[in-house]
Amino acid sequence: MEEILGQGVDAVVNFAAESHVDRSILDSSEFVRTNVQGTLNLLECSRRRRVSRFVQISTDEVYGSLGPAGSFCESSPLAPNSPYAASKAAADLLVRSYHRTYGLPAIVTRCSNNYGPFQFPEKLIPLFITNALADLSLPIYGDGLYVRDWIHVRDHCSAIDRVLHDGRPGEIYNIGARHEMPNIEIARLILRTLGKGEGLMKHVEDRPGHDRRYAIDPSKLERELGWSPKVPFEDGLAETIRWYQESPSWVEHVRSGEYVTYFDRMYRQRQRTLGEL
Ligand SMILES: NC(=O)c1ccc[n+]([C@@H]2O[C@H](COP(=O)([O-])OP(=O)(O)OC[C@H]3O[C@@H](n4cnc5c(N)ncnc54)[C@H](O)[C@@H]3O)[C@@H](O)[C@H]2O)c1
Repeated sequence: MEEILGQGVDAVVNFAAESHVDRSILDSSEFVRTNVQGTLNLLECSRRRRVSRFVQISTDEVYGSLGPAGSFCESSPLAPNSPYAASKAAADLLVRSYHRTYGLPAIVTRCSNNYGPFQFPEKLIPLFITNALADLSLPIYGDGLYVRDWIHVRDHCSAIDRVLHDGRPGEIYNIGARHEMPNIEIARLILRTLGKGEGLMKHVEDRPGHDRRYAIDPSKLERELGWSPKVPFEDGLAETIRWYQESPSWVEHVRSGEYVTYFDRMYRQRQRTLGEL
């Protein structure tokens, strides 16, 4: 990495991560290795090679869970509840320390839940779409009233681009599109769009430590950098559903092999616990 950064790299934007909460619950060691140690390696190389901008792609999950009201701002306390969120929070603090201690021009962005094309079907929206397309059940954790704040991946990318060019070193910027929705409503919307019945929804045993609600306040990014999201949720979701309908070979490829074992471990056993299989 140091050799690569020595070849005249202007900026590092660190997207790389083990990114799925459920997988971190099954085994957190890879999450610490990639998300914490991996970020430290990048920071150290960037410091030595005097990279002029470092952007850490973080998540709203570092803030933990919200009650029915309010939203997270950049000064909200860190209270991660899953091993994934804890590893991302640890990385955020390392980034902060490299800015404070060594003057590395580093910035952290914390984004809400993404959706869009090419998303691996372990994540909620592509899981529901690909299962519905295959007439498989849509596993709904607990009562399904867990609320997430959704943003299209294009809007996340435009925000990162803005932060990369105009963000202030040492700052944190929340990224979100102010679109909260309970998981069960997303399932209904997808089923309706695909003309499938709600009978495909199956409540499964809840995720341990499941955060009830996330909502992100992106006012700082809007105010300071003039950013705003452009993709309305209903349009973005319809476009995403179409993309998965038109990409069966991509879906088939990513849903083979290790994914099958993972899916079985995550959901089928949970349904058995509830006696629904
Ligand atoms: N998906 C979301 O809703 C969301 C929301 C907020 C923040 N984020 C953050 O955005 C980033 C990308 O997330 P995503 O949803 O695209 O996840 P993803 O799992 O689809 O992509 C992560 C990428 O990191 C790579 N990676 C993993 N371990 C690596 C390692 N040790 N070395 C090099 N590369 C490695 C993977 O190969 C993969 O391409 C992550 O940092 C995640 O925490 C995601």
